[in-house]
Amino acid sequence: MEKRQELYTGKAKSVYTTDDPDLLVLHFRDDASAFDGKKKESLARKGKVNNIFNAFIMQRLEEAGIPTHFEKQLSDTESLVKKMEMIPVECVVRNIAAGGLVKRLGVEEGISLNPPTFELFLKNDEKGDPMINESLAETFGWATPEQLAEMKSLTFKVNHILKQLFAEGDMLLVDYKLEFGVFKGDVILGDEFSPDGCRLWDAHTREKLDKDRFRQGLGGVIEAYEEVARRIGIHID
Ligand code: CDP
Repeated sequence: MEKRQELYTGKAKSVYTTDDPDLLVLHFRDDASAFDGKKKESLARKGKVNNIFNAFIMQRLEEAGIPTHFEKQLSDTESLVKKMEMIPVECVVRNIAAGGLVKRLGVEEGISLNPPTFELFLKNDEKGDPMINESLAETFGWATPEQLAEMKSLTFKVNHILKQLFAEGDMLLVDYKLEFGVFKGDVILGDEFSPDGCRLWDAHTREKLDKDRFRQGLGGVIEAYEEVARRIGIHID
């Protein structure tokens, strides 16, 4: 497998083509961004920590029967993935109220959500990733009803698997965002799963161990990501 040219570069990852038309290389950079790219910083070790974290989670999900784009980790900061056609819809599940939900509805941060909520957002930075629904996704051709049903089902399966995994490390999976794509006709999980795209709290103190440390300027961002990794048995040197 040979890495060829850069296909595109996002806020935290760059994507490269390879000599295999079905495979891409994801390069996890040290760049951190929040508030639709308005806050930006470079955080040492972030690319490596997120790449190793994501590889571990994607493998766990595959073992549990979730189809993902992940093929293998190539280096500290690079992984090989299947080239999918991305579905421009973000799926968010919440087990505990935080972030956008608290702002939008005025509910108290930290209350348990039973059953967990499921929300859709359009992947569009310029418009600030607006909230959408299944009707809008179908009408505008962002995803078919069948794809949306599969995305929802897979997103809840991931919740079941990861809530338990993080609980074993004494953490609460507060909420998370997943992205999907289509590979050879099937809906599969894409993008990454790392503390950049979810909220994780210490189960006892409720200390924030995720990207909210960056958003809120709490410091110790990568140290927290490394702590999360350590607690679920990931070794990063
Ligand atoms: O992150 P923010 O408070 O703006 O939005 P949210 O709707 O509360 O986010 C719910 C979860 O999805 C959080 O874990 C976010 O980190 C994640 N998310 C993400 O990774 N990327 C986005 N574009 C939006 C949300």
